[in-house]
Amino acid sequence: MKARIATVRNRFPALRPRPRRRTAAYLDSACMSLVPDRVLSAMQEYYTEYPGCAGRSVHRFSEEVSVRYEAARARFAGFFRAPGGPSSVVFLRNATEAINLVAHGIDWKRGDEVLVSDQEHNSNLVPWQHLAATRGTRLRFVRLPEDRPFDSEVFEEALARRPRLVSLFHASNLDGRLLPVAEIVERAHDRGALVLLDGCQAAPHARVDLRKVAADFYAISSHKMLGPTGTGALIGAPERLDELAPTLLGGETVEWTTLSGHALRAPPHRFEAGLQNYAGVLGAAEGLRFLSEVGLDEVLAHDRALNARVTSELSSESRVQRVGPEPVGERPSIFAFALDGVDANDAALFLDEAYGVMVRSGRHCVHSWYEERRMAATVRASFYLYNTEADVDRFIQGVRELLQRIPTTSGRRGAPRGGALSGTSAPRLASRSRPRPSRPRAAG
Ligand SMILES: Cc1ncc(COP(=O)(O)O)c(C=O)c1O
Repeated sequence: MKARIATVRNRFPALRPRPRRRTAAYLDSACMSLVPDRVLSAMQEYYTEYPGCAGRSVHRFSEEVSVRYEAARARFAGFFRAPGGPSSVVFLRNATEAINLVAHGIDWKRGDEVLVSDQEHNSNLVPWQHLAATRGTRLRFVRLPEDRPFDSEVFEEALARRPRLVSLFHASNLDGRLLPVAEIVERAHDRGALVLLDGCQAAPHARVDLRKVAADFYAISSHKMLGPTGTGALIGAPERLDELAPTLLGGETVEWTTLSGHALRAPPHRFEAGLQNYAGVLGAAEGLRFLSEVGLDEVLAHDRALNARVTSELSSESRVQRVGPEPVGERPSIFAFALDGVDANDAALFLDEAYGVMVRSGRHCVHSWYEERRMAATVRASFYLYNTEADVDRFIQGVRELLQRIPTTSGRRGAPRGGALSGTSAPRLASRSRPRPSRPRAAG
């Protein structure tokens, strides 16, 4: 039976009311999602009921966790309808590790081309830059249009160069755009290219059917889909995983060893070196179970409706410069924008301190995109199943108050570097809401 989305919110302990603390309007799920109580229970159950290592000892704890760990793999395979079944699911720490496994595991030849978009997360850019620098591969870019998700003609031209691998996001963490992945995979395969899809931002919101979208590799982060931090997976077509070289070797990856050699286990075990994050994997699988019970179609419709409300309310504000395609349906879970005359980090601090609204600000680990456009930063509100209309109304109200408090200082697109609040002549906000100096941020 489907859980009703309206009752979902109280399953998330981080959103429960606390004495003397304002409940968060958490609009940063694109960074990491919150965790429902069931995920916490699944992890606790591991440590309290069967805290063993899978596949090693023969005692009851070990037997129990072995069975559950493989059942978690089967759940992942079912959730993504992986054609290769459970053995095509490799448990890893996150999508970054999944992408790196592919980058380091393919037997590259000098001159092999990797095609990515000009809007990839650093995790789907830096590994390919490194590969080009160290292995003599070439990195090429397909430009994405500003006003619509994708340009098939431009992609077709890029494919004419016969890349060995096309590696693209399924949905963008910067502006939420969804790419037409079924078409992309088909066209790329027609030209003999392998395809890796970075599913970080799509899989939490939309049904991914790998029988229909036959990507060779699909990378996900479970901590963006109700799982615990530091959990993720690479789902690979069986023949592709067979060809991939493991990047870490040691315990768990081998059938046997002698002093002079070893035999690797079959995928996926050859890629899971050392003792694994059993509690995390079991929690991540419980997160998928929760999502399945709510229903991804419902989740997507809910996110889209909240985003539509924000988009329609803020579209009348000329100083809100939204980025990404116009129709909400093409960027269902993300509303990203710059505020004319207001530094993005200052805006995020104000929203948190004055309204209890948590958004992400900065360059969202896509620095290259901002550099190309000479933009400083943007603010990103991302929506998920536990958000309510009240959350997004607080956000809208906060943005409006911020605009009222800070007069226009520039007609430029995007917040200027060191925006209005950082300058010596910056207008002052009331002390309660005056943003603190921006906290230092890693490049992501
Ligand atoms: C599109 C995209 N790709 C890759 C990543 C990296 O994910 P992780 O840090 O979980 O490896 C993220 C994280 O925000 C992302 O949004």
